[in-house]
Parts: sequence; structure tokens; C-alpha cells
Amino acid sequence: MSVKNIKTICCIGAGYVGGPTMSVIADKCPHLTINVVDLNEERINLWNSDDLSKIPIFEPGLQEIIERVRNKNLFFTTEIKNTIKNSDMIFISVNTPTKTKGIGAGKASDISWVEACTRQVAKYAVGDTIVVEKSTIPVRTAEAIKAILENSKRDNKEKCSFSVLSNPEFLAEGTAIKDLQNPDRILIGGEDASSIQSLKDIYLNWVKEEKIITTNLWSSELSKLTANAFLAQRISSINAMSALCEVTGANVQEVKEAIGLDTRIGSKFLSAGPGFGGSCFKKDILNLTYLCEYFGLPEVASYWEQVISINEWQKYRIYKLVINKLFGNVNKKKIAILGFSFKADTNDTRESPAIFICKQLLNEGAILKIHDPKVDEAQIAFELGELGKENSLNWSFSHNLGNIFDNVEAIVLLTEWEVYKTINWDLVNDKIMTPAWLFDTRRIVNPDKIKNCDFKFWQVGLGNDI
Ligand SMILES: NC(=O)c1ccc[n+]([C@@H]2O[C@H](COP(=O)([O-])OP(=O)(O)OC[C@H]3O[C@@H](n4cnc5c(N)ncnc54)[C@H](O)[C@@H]3O)[C@@H](O)[C@H]2O)c1
Repeated sequence: MSVKNIKTICCIGAGYVGGPTMSVIADKCPHLTINVVDLNEERINLWNSDDLSKIPIFEPGLQEIIERVRNKNLFFTTEIKNTIKNSDMIFISVNTPTKTKGIGAGKASDISWVEACTRQVAKYAVGDTIVVEKSTIPVRTAEAIKAILENSKRDNKEKCSFSVLSNPEFLAEGTAIKDLQNPDRILIGGEDASSIQSLKDIYLNWVKEEKIITTNLWSSELSKLTANAFLAQRISSINAMSALCEVTGANVQEVKEAIGLDTRIGSKFLSAGPGFGGSCFKKDILNLTYLCEYFGLPEVASYWEQVISINEWQKYRIYKLVINKLFGNVNKKKIAILGFSFKADTNDTRESPAIFICKQLLNEGAILKIHDPKVDEAQIAFELGELGKENSLNWSFSHNLGNIFDNVEAIVLLTEWEVYKTINWDLVNDKIMTPAWLFDTRRIVNPDKIKNCDFKFWQVGLGNDI
């Protein structure tokens, strides 16, 4: 067995996974040349932007790494053919959204993009190439990738060989750089020991050997879906309990601390909120339920479906609660929305609870003043879609908190951005209408800091109004 010495890497997909992951590999492995390639020219131009504040993804610590490695051993390009041709190892890091039509629509993952770039790899690769699945994909996708690689017509007539590995990414947006620099584990699934070793050798540049685990391909593919399902399940579990706390006088924070000290449960990922968002949890659980049904396990599918149902309900109940507290009517009432990204420290808005809640409030006639420190107005307009266009005079956006609170009748805090933790509520109190409400869906407002304020306060999972 000879282990291939990797010198050049290509990553297809310059998104939330491809960009940060390759930046960290480039930073930790100066001996490697890494090309990140994407069809989306605008995105690549932003990655290459001289002004580092314009790179398309916001993650703490990412800009600094880009500054160190870009155009040294990390390159962003749209040139797919030669990039593939010159690479020893190719990561597939493209999007795998939920299918919107055909068999499995609304549940199964659409692997069109994985398939399309696999065809390009098959066409342009030269010599022995290791293909690494980074995207989250349905279990047994490697079978399809292998079939495409082995049976496609090639651009070149040279003999090629391929080895396929699964190497799912476990980073969380908002802490992606820390997660990549210090991962809990690296998972590599595969059949060919020498290819596995080649990938392992890259990670060994900064990850301890005992943290790198190897499995068969299918366990690796399924572990990623399982991890996301378990994580989402914890959020839905605590959110379900937050509703019960509110009607019984319990405090979800206290419940969280009490159960989190049990080492069998653990304390992480137990914060009640407005429902999970992000591009992954919902789509990966939908994909899991589709796979369960496909393999004849409807009971398992319906078990996991509940995790999504509770999540949808949590967003709905918060929207309904805002309306109810405002006397069942928000027509022409000004409401400040604090935060639009699905969580703090990312500019990603995909599946953000803010989308549903803002759309419902707009639909009820509210006038929204939306603030987010990192999401821009165009992105919010995109997410609000047709409803946002129809109500374009009823919402505005600001990057700073300046006059966002003027004459509002409610403040709905939806993202746990650090900047919201230091708001001087006494000053806000002077600007807003009376009566007014502050709805804290993230539990970041300290009730002691609003003791002298006139507005009413609701916090997720807190049993009593203050
Ligand atoms: N976002 C996360 O936190 C996260 C974490 C772990 C795993 N994942 C998984 O990683 C994958 C990528 O997620 P993402 O958030 O980075 O997606 P993304 O949409 O941000 O990026 C995907 C990129 O791939 C590009 N692309 C698609 N087809 C292409 C092709 N044929 N050639 C070149 N470029 C192509 C798109 O233009 C896009 O820029 C998904 O499967 C996702 O489930 C995401």
C-alpha cells in the first residue's frame, strides 16, 4: 500500500463549509496548494475582494486567516477544468437542499449539485484522484458518486483511478473557525486504507490522532445525519419544555441547569429560543425521515418528524403570543426586530425563525424596523420575498441601533447578538410608546436591567410576567 502524498487540493463549492474549511486547512498546511472553485462568479469575486470586510461569509476569525493565506496557498477561482485536472484530492462541498419536485419532494435531499460536480471530476481528473464528500448527503450517495466516476466519458484518454471517501463536516456556523481548528472529532469513512491515510495525514497537521476516527462509508454518511438529528432534537426538547415552563411558573433556565448537570444529559445545546434555523437541521431531518420511509421504517420517520413539528410550532406560538399581548392587533403598530440571522455571529439567514415571524407580523399589518449587525438589507428583502415586496413601505432596515426604538410598541429580540446584551434599556424606555412590550426569545435580557422600565416583558421559558 503506498500512501499518496497530497500536494494540491481542489474544493468544489465556496460556501459556508467550503470557504472556512479550506481556509483553515490552508492555514494549518502551508505545504499544500488549495483551490476553491465555484460556479458563482459573484461569490468568488467577493472571496477575492481587496476589502476583507466584503468576503461573502462572516465568521469570527475568518478574515484574519484569509489575510494570511489568500493568494499564498489558498486561491478562489471559477476555473473548474484545470483546477480539477491539477488536483490530487477533490472535496465536494456543494449545496444539498431539499428536493422541491419529483419523487421525495419536500423531504429527500437533492443531490443534483453533487452529481453535476462529480461528472466534472470524472471528465477532467487525471491520474489517481481521491474524491472526498464534504457535503451532507443521503446515506449510500458514495455508491452513486463511484458509479459516475467509473463510467463517465473522459476528456483525456489517460487511465484514471478514483477513490471515494466520506468526511462530513461538523462545524457550527458562528463558531466555524474554532470548530475547524479544534474539532471534537474528524470522521473519515472509506474502503481504501491508503486514501484514508492520505486524508488523515492532512488533518494530522493540527488534529491529534485519537480524534480522527475511521469507519465504513455508510456509517460515516449516516453519522452526519444522525448528529444533526440529535442536535435538533435537543433544541426541540428544550423548546417544548419552555412552553410548559411558561404556563406552570417554572423557569426554563433553572430547569436547563438542573438537568444539564446530569452527565448523561450534559449542559450544551440546551438553550430555549424561537426555534432552530440554519440550512442544515431541517433539511437533514427531512432527508432522514425520507430515508427511513424508503427503507420501510415509517415509525422511525414519524419519530424524527416530531422534532421539526415542534420547531415549526415554537415559531408559530411566539408569533401568536406577540399578537395576543398586543391586544390581538398589530395593524400599523411599529415593532422593532432585533436580529435576522438564524443565530449570532453569522450572516446566514437560511431558515432563520426571523423570516417566519417577520412575515406573519407584516401580514398582520405591522410596521417593522429590522436591525441586524451583519445581515444586509438585500438579504432580508430576499428572505421576505413577495410579501416583503408587497409591504415594502412597512419594513425598514438598519445596521445600527440609533433610532430603531423610536415610537415602537414592541421589541422582538430574535438573535442572540452580543450587541443586544449591552443595550441600555433605561434609554430605550424613554423612546418607546406606552404601553409596550419587550419579547426576548433568546433569554439574553437580564430582568434586573429592566426593573425601572415601564414596558412589559416576556422571555421564552419564564413562568411569570415581571
Ligand atoms: N452550512 C453549514 O453549517 C454546514 C455544516 C456542515 C455541513 N454542511 C453541508 O455542506 C454542504 C454545503 O453547505 P454550504 O452551507 O457551504 O452551502 P452553500 O450554499 O453556502 O455553498 C455551496 C456552494 O456550492 C456551489 N456549487 C454548487 N454546484 C456547483 C458546481 N457544480 N460547481 C461549482 N460550484 C458549485 C454553489 O454555487 C455554492 O456557492 C451542504 O451539503 C450542507 O448540508 C453545511
